[in-house]
Amino acid sequence: MSDVRFRVAVVGATGAVGREMLKTLEARDFPASEVVPMASARSAGMKLPYKGGEIQVQELTEDSFEGFDLALFSAGGSTSEKFAPIAARAGCVVVDNSSAWRMDDDTPLVVPEVNPHDLDWHKGIIANPNCSTIQMVVALKPLHDEATIKRVVVSTYQAVSGSGQKAMVELENQVRRLMSGQEAESEVYPHQIAFNCLPHIDSFLENEYTKEEMKMVNETVKIMGDESVKVTATTVRVPVFFGHSESVNIETAKKLTSAQARGILAQAPGVTVFDNPSENVYPMPVECAGQDDVFVGRIRVDDTIENGLNMWIVSDNIRKGAALNTVQIAETLIERNLVRVL
Ligand code: A2P
Repeated sequence: MSDVRFRVAVVGATGAVGREMLKTLEARDFPASEVVPMASARSAGMKLPYKGGEIQVQELTEDSFEGFDLALFSAGGSTSEKFAPIAARAGCVVVDNSSAWRMDDDTPLVVPEVNPHDLDWHKGIIANPNCSTIQMVVALKPLHDEATIKRVVVSTYQAVSGSGQKAMVELENQVRRLMSGQEAESEVYPHQIAFNCLPHIDSFLENEYTKEEMKMVNETVKIMGDESVKVTATTVRVPVFFGHSESVNIETAKKLTSAQARGILAQAPGVTVFDNPSENVYPMPVECAGQDDVFVGRIRVDDTIENGLNMWIVSDNIRKGAALNTVQIAETLIERNLVRVL
């Protein structure tokens, strides 16, 4: 990278993903001349740690983006719908974590290990995919390149941090209350999440799937750039704080042995193969939380179909599933000279 430095706005900086974005920018020594955290009026003036000091949260308004080069958003869909175009009109390149722009035809949906070339046609807004989709496509793309994936059947085990800070507090409080003989109180989720599994993430649609499930179906096709890949998903919230897990079954056009799949994944960018069952080695959220990579294990042949494989994919949903992927998109934009410095 050159010596050029960028003014960066982090919108939703007080949230679970926003805080991780600040940490990620710092840890990766992102070439920023200034990083400004933004959130709602409720948080204006709050101080957040950055590079050994503190930076002060500014209220997000329509005038917030003058003079910024990049705006990294994680403040929910309605905030992105309203403010991402305002930021883009002010000259910023926006990388947005919400679902607001993901399926928009004029908005690239990018995982840098998979489709960095899609950044080249951006019109000011780039969408960061859904967390469950990101970790799955990082692992599936190298297998697709080698053996052409025809069908994917995925079931997820998703951490509560994916629902934001309030959900983490809800799980913690419910565990405390239930362990001391009190009733669990639920606000974020429709049911108790402690000691439970909810086959319900985001709202239900007319086709009887949830929005989260259809995100995995539609986003995977857009990112892989291949409409022939069929995906069906069941998404489940589990009482884990950090790290989404996925049981993934794929059917390929060309046969792959488990050893071949392991070999391909071992070479793939952003993937660590963690697969030695005889030693009890396989990816688990408690180990993958706080790490950058997508971890794959339990790779084995599904012999109920001609060319089938099963695998278990785990990644930190707040890192690769959100903050890290967003920052990697910003880094790739810079590498490809796609940020206009104001
Ligand atoms: P605030 O803390 O001021 O409410 P999470 O997903 O962890 O709940 O975080 C959501 C983030 O989005 C927070 O930083 C929150 O700020 C921010 N946010 C939510 N609504 C708005 C809004 N209308 N304008 C600006 N920031 C918002």
